[in-house]
Amino acid sequence: MRIPLIAGNWKLYKTEQEAISLVYGLIAPLEAVKGVEKLICPPFTALSTVYKLLAGTEIKLGAQNMFWEPKGAYTGEISPLQLAEFCQYVIIGHSERRAYFGETDAVVNKKVQSALKHRLTPILCIGESLEENTAGRVVEVLTRQLKEGLRDVRLTDGKQLVVAYEPVWAIGTGRSASAEGANQVVEGIIRPTLSGSFGEDIARSVRALYGGSVTPENARSFFAQPGIDGALVGGASLNKFDFIGIVQAAKR
Ligand code: PGA
Repeated sequence: MRIPLIAGNWKLYKTEQEAISLVYGLIAPLEAVKGVEKLICPPFTALSTVYKLLAGTEIKLGAQNMFWEPKGAYTGEISPLQLAEFCQYVIIGHSERRAYFGETDAVVNKKVQSALKHRLTPILCIGESLEENTAGRVVEVLTRQLKEGLRDVRLTDGKQLVVAYEPVWAIGTGRSASAEGANQVVEGIIRPTLSGSFGEDIARSVRALYGGSVTPENARSFFAQPGIDGALVGGASLNKFDFIGIVQAAKR
């Protein structure tokens, strides 16, 4: 049984004060939805404050990125040790990190390994660009991102990993993938690849999220798919009502 997970990726939005008011508005309505795991990934500057606000609730906290080294002379980076004080999850390999900050599959792999070592659950993001999609390279690209991103990774339990399928052309564009298409990617590419690396049992228990222009209106169609275990939500996670609506739609 995979418990649905709805993760809000706030990206480079919200000051600390804005984070406080959004989280205040989210706590009671999100706590009221049972059977769905709720996760908020604010910017680093709000983690400590949001951590305190969420104390005693079931809402989880995650980071949007991390460096792989636990400590050292790495000006401006954030370490897994520092995150582990506040977070249970960390988003790794988001397409914006890959596109704007040069993150390769090798970098993503180091981060995934480091997150696991520090007991953070990585949400590994994979997704093809529009160009790769139209060139018919979806299987090749996603298989490579998964295999390289998870190279030498050992899992004892599928709960240690989350994979998010986020087609680059669907992120922030208002043009989501079709629910059936996303499900086919999960069942036809992601789970078979995971099964090749970790065996069938673990592959079945890793949660697979869809991300890319998820809204309260289209969320239900994704969650109705047997292979999709929730969503990684960007834009709609910045609005209280939209995020609550998506979480409610995930209730089975
Ligand atoms: P979006 O972003 O929901 O705004 O499309 C999703 C993501 O980047 O995780």
